[in-house]
Amino acid sequence: MKVAHEPAEVRALLDQARSEGRRTGLVPTLGALHAGHRSLVRRAAADCDFVVVSVFVNPLQFGPGEDFGSYPRDLEGDCAQAEEAGAHLVFAPSQEAMYPVPPLTTVRVERLSSVLEGRSRPGHFDGVATVVTKLFAIAGPCAAYFGEKDYQQLLVVRRLVTDLSLPVVVVACPTVREPDGLALSSRNRYLSPPERAAAPVLYWALLAGKRAIEEEGATDPAQVRAAMRAVAGREPLLALDYAEVASPEDLSSPATITAEVRLLIAGRLGRARLIDNVSATPPGTEA
Ligand code: PAJ
Repeated sequence: MKVAHEPAEVRALLDQARSEGRRTGLVPTLGALHAGHRSLVRRAAADCDFVVVSVFVNPLQFGPGEDFGSYPRDLEGDCAQAEEAGAHLVFAPSQEAMYPVPPLTTVRVERLSSVLEGRSRPGHFDGVATVVTKLFAIAGPCAAYFGEKDYQQLLVVRRLVTDLSLPVVVVACPTVREPDGLALSSRNRYLSPPERAAAPVLYWALLAGKRAIEEEGATDPAQVRAAMRAVAGREPLLALDYAEVASPEDLSSPATITAEVRLLIAGRLGRARLIDNVSATPPGTEA
C-alpha cells in the first residue's frame, strides 16, 4: 500500500487507475481509524479495484473550543488498519497541502446543515461539505463511502453531490457497534471508565423510540421523543443535547409518523460529544 501526501499525486494515481479500467473508491476519514472505518474500507474494496483512504483532520469543521488540537492522530496505525482492510492508497495531506491559502470558498448545504448537529455545532457542516468537495475534486469520478453513524453528514454529502453535479456515487454503510450497542467512534477514547459504562444509554434511548413506533404503534413524534428522553434521563452522567424524530430524506419534523423515520440523538458524556441514530418503520408501512 502506498502513502501519498500531495493532492496532485493522488489525482494522478486515480486517473491512472481509471485509465486502466479500474473502478476507484474513496473513504474520507479524520484518522484514528477503528472497526467502523475498516468496514467502509472493506466495502469499498469489495466494490472497487483501487481504494484510497484519506486521513485528514480538517480544521474547517471544528468549532472554537472543540477538539481539533487534541483529536487523536496516529498515521502509522491508520495505514496499518487501512491496508489490512484492503486499501491501496492512503492520502494524508498536510494542512498546507489542502489549504495552501486560507480558502475564500465555502460549500454550504442549506437547511440540512442548520438543524440537529448544525444547531449545536454552527459551521460544522460547511467545513465538512467544503473538505469533502475538495476530496472529491482531488479523487475524480469514484464511489465514495460514508457511514450511517453520521446520518446528517451522509445527507449533506448526498445533497452536495446532487446540487453540484459531482461525478461521485455516494454509498451508505451501516453503523458498526460495540457488543453493548455503543456506536464505534474515535471520540469514545475520551470516555472515562464510568462514562464508557454509561455510553450505551444513547443506543438504548434510540431503541426505546424505535420500540414505541414499531411495537407500540406510536404515531405522535412527541410520544417517541418522550420515550427516548425517559431512557436518556435515567443516566446522570449524560447531558442530553437532542433526541429527535426526523424524515430520513431531509430531516424535517413529521407531524405524524406514517412512514419510515430516522431517530437521532446527541449528548455529552464528560468531554466526549457522542451521536447516534437508527431508523424506525411503523407497522404495515414497510416498503
Ligand atoms: P470520521 O469521523 O473519521 O468518519 C469517517 C467515516 O467513517 C464517516 O463516513 C463516518 O460516518 C464513518 N464512521 C465512523 N464511525 C462509524 C461506525 N461506528 N460505523 C460505521 N461508519 C462509521 O466523518 C468524518 O470523519 C469527517 O467529517 C469527514 C467525512 C472525513 C470529513 O472531514
